[in-house]
This record gives sequence, C-alpha cells and structure tokens, in this order.
Amino acid sequence: MRRTVELGLGLAAVFATLGLLFYAAWVEEERMARTAAAQWARAVEVGAGLYDQHCRTCHGADGQGAGQLGPGLNERQFFTQRVQEVGWPGTLEEYVRATIALGRVVATRPLYAGDGVVVMPAWSQEVGGALRPDEIQALTAFVLNWRATALGEVTLPTLEIPKVQLDDPEVIARGREVFVAAACGRCHTVTGLSEGTIGPVLDHVATSAATRKEETDAETYLRESVLIPNAYFVEGFEEVARENMCGGVLSEEQLDMLVAFLLSLR
Ligand code: HEC
Ligand code: HEC
Repeated sequence: MRRTVELGLGLAAVFATLGLLFYAAWVEEERMARTAAAQWARAVEVGAGLYDQHCRTCHGADGQGAGQLGPGLNERQFFTQRVQEVGWPGTLEEYVRATIALGRVVATRPLYAGDGVVVMPAWSQEVGGALRPDEIQALTAFVLNWRATALGEVTLPTLEIPKVQLDDPEVIARGREVFVAAACGRCHTVTGLSEGTIGPVLDHVATSAATRKEETDAETYLRESVLIPNAYFVEGFEEVARENMCGGVLSEEQLDMLVAFLLSLR
C-alpha cells in the first residue's frame, strides 16, 4: 500500500516536472519568435535606409524598377517564379542575399545587358563592396518585405507621377541632349546634329516608325528600338545590327525624353 502511494507521488512529481519543462519551452519559443520578429522588423527599417542610399536609382523608389537600369523587385512574379526561372537551388531569401552580396556581372535578361559593363555592382565587403554582412541581411529583409504588396495582399497608395509630355518642346530639347550624351550619333545621322553611318538615318524616323511593325505605334516602336535593339531589324541592317546595338544604359526619364525627341523627327 505504501509503495503504491510512493509510486503515485513519484509519478505525479515526474509529470509535474515534465509539465513545467514543456511550459518553459513553450514560453521560450514564444519569446524567441517575438525576438526574431522584432529583429526582422528592425532589419527592414535599417534596410530601407540602405536601399534608399544604394539601390533606389536602379530599382526604383518603391521597387518598381527603373527603365533599363534595373528590374522591378516589388513584383508578383519575383516572389512566385523568379527562383525557378533562374534555376536557383535555394530559397528566395538566399537568392536575394547572394545577388546583393555578389552583384551581377551579366544580366539574365537582354533588357539590362550593359554593353560589357557590370550591370549590378557587388556589395559584400568580402568581394570589395561597401556593406557588412548585417547590412546585406537588412537589405535582404527589406526586399523580401515587399512580398505582401507584390502579391496584392496589401495595396500602397499610388504616388501621382507626372507623365512626361512627349510633345512638350522642352522635353524634346532635353531628349536631343540625351541623344548626344548617349552617343547615339556615333551610329546615326540626324541632319544638323550627327553624322554616324553604321545605323539608319533618323531624320524622318517618327514617320517610318509608325509603319515598321504591324500593330505597333511609333512611340512603342521607338521605345523598343532603343531598349531591345534586336526586336526588329531595319532592312539592309540585319548583319550590322548583330555587332552594333543601340542600347546604352538610360534611366526611365532619359528614355522618355529620347523618345520625345525621336517622335519629333517627322
Ligand atoms: C547600377 C544599377 C544597380 C544597382 C545600383 C543595384 N542593382 Fe540590383 N540589379 C541590377 C540589374 C541590372 C540586375 C539584374 C537584372 C537581370 O539579371 O536581368 C539586378 C538584380 C537584382 C536582384 C535580383 C533581381 C532578379 O529579378 O533576379 C536583386 C534582389 C537586386 N538587384 C537587389 C539590389 C539591391 C538590394 C541593391 C542595393 C544594394 C541593388 N540591387 C543595386 C541593377 C542594379
Ligand atoms: C553602335 C551603333 C549604334 C548606336 C550607338 C546606336 N544605334 Fe540605333 N541602330 C543601330 C543599327 C545598326 C540599327 C538598325 C538595326 C535595327 O533596327 O536594330 C539601329 C536602329 C535604330 C532605330 C530604328 C530606326 C528605324 O528606322 O526603324 C532607332 C530608333 C535607333 N536605332 C535609335 C537609337 C538611339 C536613340 C540610340 C542612342 C541611345 C542609338 N540608336 C544608338 C546602331 C546603333
């Protein structure tokens, strides 16, 4: 009888201890999860500042991308398909961290090809960049934080960005400056401005642009010609085109102005 009582008490003690242990573990897990969430939130905040400083010019203030300079990161497809698309064996987080740390020597899409120039610099100090591992982690957290907006779970208020007025004489004049600065004249003649002969004369390019491709208006065609040089080959230039691409790295605004200038060449 006494032994049964002792056994019962012993068992009760064991269960009580186990219960306490489980409770302590559960509390600890909760605490760790809360700490991790707080650390992540802090990293996102730090990452936002670093992004503004180092990445915004090429990927856009809200991760929407910037013309030919860099792709959008705040996009559904980036969160749902990018890792499979490039055949990356790890997680999206690892892909983002690795891309930031090492940069990108060669773009994976022709749009961002930098004419033999590195398209995104490396940021890790280990490979000569400017950022510490914790800063790279903060940027990774910041980029991944776009998941909710990219997947449409949250909508951001949209900023009213004035669209460039393509027939504004001032915009056209600035587009002309971009044409000169981007050395388009090295290959193209625009009477009174340049004398390049490798590519077609652009004196009346706005007129011909409207008829080059079916179902493509002049503006779209011109935009495409500059962004994706091989999208269409002007007759007689099929051979030269392979070696001599229009390209050049332009921001979205510069591209808009350039298109305004080309559209004025009727
Ligand atoms: C000089 C322009 C430039 C700067 C500055 C730049 N990037 Fe990039 N980034 C690019 C280009 C171009 C690509 C590659 C596009 C491709 O492969 O098609 C890229 C790729 C990426 C990718 C992978 C995107 C994808 O679709 O595969 C991430 C993530 C990224 N950059 C984050 C950053 C962050 C964070 C910073 C700031 C630390 C930064 N980038 C700075 C131009 C830039
Ligand atoms: C290295 C030489 C080269 C440079 C530099 C160059 N282009 Fe071109 N461009 C070509 C060639 C070759 C073609 C014809 C083949 C083709 O259509 O892709 C062409 C075609 C075009 C066309 C289509 C013309 C038409 O009649 O349909 C436009 C528009 C154009 N370039 C604009 C530009 C602009 C703007 C720049 C500067 C950002 C530029 N190009 C820089 C070689 C060049």
